[in-house]
Amino acid sequence: MYAVEGKTYVRTFTQIASQPGQQVLVHNLADRPNVSCIGDLTGADISSNMLEHAAQRLRGVANAQLHHLHGDGLSGLGDNSFDVVYCTNTLAHLDELDRWRYVLDAFRVLRSGGRIFLDNIDLASDQGWAMFLNLVAKYHNTELPPYMARFSTATELMTYATRAGFPQVQAHHKAPLVIVTAVKLSAAASC
Ligand SMILES: C[S@@+](CC[C@H](N)C(=O)[O-])C[C@H]1O[C@@H](n2cnc3c(N)ncnc32)[C@H](O)[C@@H]1O
Repeated sequence: MYAVEGKTYVRTFTQIASQPGQQVLVHNLADRPNVSCIGDLTGADISSNMLEHAAQRLRGVANAQLHHLHGDGLSGLGDNSFDVVYCTNTLAHLDELDRWRYVLDAFRVLRSGGRIFLDNIDLASDQGWAMFLNLVAKYHNTELPPYMARFSTATELMTYATRAGFPQVQAHHKAPLVIVTAVKLSAAASC
């Protein structure tokens, strides 16, 4: 359900938020071929494997490119170079330090008026809490695996966005997800 919901959001958010010619940064494009119709896309990921997979899916798509991240926010991407940063189905893989670095860097790479979209499994939702308790039971007295979903709350994600400098931050609840969107206001609007 999580992935399916993410695909719904990528359609609605990017279609509403981006226009032809705008620059859209999506966290990995391997599972997102439907976003190729709007804006100019940059898919970014830490995993070479995922980027290769994305390259295969995007073969023949003119307005898409890929960027290799190195676990240090959005390093290598230019300041004020994107209109949309779309990060879905990813924060569950990052610890709090890396989430913060990602949001802070998203503020840097977004142009004035640019928008960010973040989502994660909502610990405060009934479904998210049930998923959390499943992990508690599953990994009782056992070594944790290299990847295990890490949860968020609206307060956590809104704190990163507000502290990064976004003046307009909103939380949306679509269980099991919490979604945070924010806009980097233009210099004139933020005065
Ligand atoms: C579940 S996949 C989702 C990919 C894409 N957002 C989607 O929904 O199709 C999570 C992605 O996060 C990437 N990832 C994990 N840790 C990361 C990190 N520290 N920095 C950047 N990406 C990371 C993984 O390589 C993986 O491609």
